Amino acid sequence: MATEEKHHDQTEAPVLEALENYHRSGELAFTPPGHKQARGADPEVRRILGDAVFHGDVLASGGLDDRRTRGNVLQRAERLMAEAVHAEHAYFSTCGSSLSGKAAMLTVASPHEKLLVGRDAHKSVVSGLILCGLRPVWVEPAWDPERHLAHPPSAEAYERAFREHPDARGALVTSPTPYGSAADIAAIAEVCHRRGRPLVVDEAWGAHLPFHPDLPPWAMDAGADVCVTSIHKMGSGLEQGSVLHLQGGLIDPADLASRADLLGTTSPSVLLYAGIDGWRRQMVRHGHELLTRTLELAGHVRTEIERIDGLHVNDADDFCGPGRAAEFDPLPVVIDLGELAISGYDTA
Ligand SMILES: Cc1ncc(COP(=O)(O)O)c(C=O)c1O
Repeated sequence: MATEEKHHDQTEAPVLEALENYHRSGELAFTPPGHKQARGADPEVRRILGDAVFHGDVLASGGLDDRRTRGNVLQRAERLMAEAVHAEHAYFSTCGSSLSGKAAMLTVASPHEKLLVGRDAHKSVVSGLILCGLRPVWVEPAWDPERHLAHPPSAEAYERAFREHPDARGALVTSPTPYGSAADIAAIAEVCHRRGRPLVVDEAWGAHLPFHPDLPPWAMDAGADVCVTSIHKMGSGLEQGSVLHLQGGLIDPADLASRADLLGTTSPSVLLYAGIDGWRRQMVRHGHELLTRTLELAGHVRTEIERIDGLHVNDADDFCGPGRAAEFDPLPVVIDLGELAISGYDTA
């Protein structure tokens, strides 16, 4: 946290603890979910999913917390997350980065306004532009003609786009890419901040970045205003668990929270909240050690695959440098099959 003194106990997991208390109390609500702690669910469904799924599926308010959320369960979990990853605010979301990204975009720009967007954006960003009625100013990624893949656009590309479109309300960059190449976020943030505009980072593939120094810089550390992460991609949360992170004075936290509320469900899954909350605690406690081991394993896998005739594992030398990416995350192992006469689809 940049401005507030750290005083939260990272060994706590408010969502998990509230869930445990709910079970201990033996309450059975006259409210949704209709399966009533698995009792009403189909036996075959229970057999295959396991009752734990139903036991964790309770109302967020009027179940996990009381009807007026006086326990501040979610708020406390979000505060712990913000502190753990050096953000000022964190908001849990249960519709993936697909929804968090839209909330961020709608906070930065209003319908008919311009937003600079790296052209290698995910489909959820493109659908966000359509649904929010924003006018994209496309920023060309760093295209690798040899490997036929795109790395995040450079800071200079954002600079040029802002010069041509000074009325753009802010910028969005996807970093890291699913290939593991990452942008120079600090330089792009500087381009934005010189104009008093915020930078949004689609960091769906970067939830692990805050927890190890040998990974590319994390958007909050690099000075971005908002970043969006999927906890189910590079973290161990459940599918659809996502977190919006915010810092700095360019975006009002109430605005971001209200856009997330506008787009989000009124029945958020407590299972997803629990997955996010527990993962944050795991990473604070063991993230460095787990990621050190993961980096070693990825290194080993890379070396062994590289030995196989016809296969080449792309590394920082392939992806980084002038006209290419600024940073590299070695955990996604991208294998180049160019020397073989078969496609990636056939190989998979
Ligand atoms: C770059 C990028 N942004 C956003 C998303 C959407 O994330 P989610 O699947 O959590 O909705 C994805 C999903 O693959 C992605 O790759």
